[in-house]
Amino acid sequence: MRDIEDLIKNNKKYNDVVVQQQLKSKKNIVAYVTINNKPRVLKWFVPGLKKQMKNEYNIINKGSSKLNIPIIHEIDEKNNVLIMNYIIGENLCDIINNKKVTISEKQRLTILLAQWFFDFHNYFKIKEEFLIHGDPTLRNFIFTDRIWGFDFEETRVGKPVEDISGMCASILTTEPMFNNEKFHLCKKFIEEYLNLAPGRINDINTEISYSLLQKIQWRPNDEEILRKFSKLIRKKGIKGF
Ligand SMILES: Nc1ncnc2c1ncn2[C@@H]1O[C@H](COP(=O)(O)OP(=O)(O)O)[C@@H](O)[C@H]1O
Ligand SMILES: [Mg+2]
Repeated sequence: MRDIEDLIKNNKKYNDVVVQQQLKSKKNIVAYVTINNKPRVLKWFVPGLKKQMKNEYNIINKGSSKLNIPIIHEIDEKNNVLIMNYIIGENLCDIINNKKVTISEKQRLTILLAQWFFDFHNYFKIKEEFLIHGDPTLRNFIFTDRIWGFDFEETRVGKPVEDISGMCASILTTEPMFNNEKFHLCKKFIEEYLNLAPGRINDINTEISYSLLQKIQWRPNDEEILRKFSKLIRKKGIKGF
């Protein structure tokens, strides 16, 4: 297992880094650190993901003055490391799945999330071509007084509906899965995106249905329920719930 302490010990340039907390991540090692007492996030990419690191670096660099995304302080191509500012807030996945948070607060946040995607899609649009986030899961978003987005390794040319349906799949499949509240939040999320960008997304039900099937590869134990809801959503649409 890679350990962030190895990176720090073996590289003089990281002598001043103090690890405060490791952050939940899918692939890479991501930690909240302090560097000369300043709060930072250190993202140490898996070896072999240099292309993804550069992709993330380019997106953040282009977007950070206009979008709610972090700022990069340093890129270390030798060790595959990005250093960013640390956004202190609450992970959106934890808020949306917290029983104690009211439905109206969750609804307000999903509406802000739709606005985040709208801003992101607009900002990187060239003629009729869009860049999409590419890994739209709740864990990749944090709420402070606004929504912040992270993790741009998979950002690529694509259709905005892929982000919107992928986010719906994330909302529906994080515990508690597929309950009424989750369907309600998805409807609000889609509705808000469509209010902002009428006609920009088509065939949302087919896309959500497909996004749910894509999750099977990461969650083989949930195959049955994912297939079941994929089929139901394709048949009666998200509005049918
Ligand atoms: N600059 C940051 N400030 C605060 N939290 C962050 C920052 N960057 C990432 N995170 C948190 O750490 C998690 C893991 O980072 P991420 O870039 O998604 O790594 P991975 O690609 O391995 O999933 C994110 O989901 C986000 O919640
Ligand atoms: Mg991530």
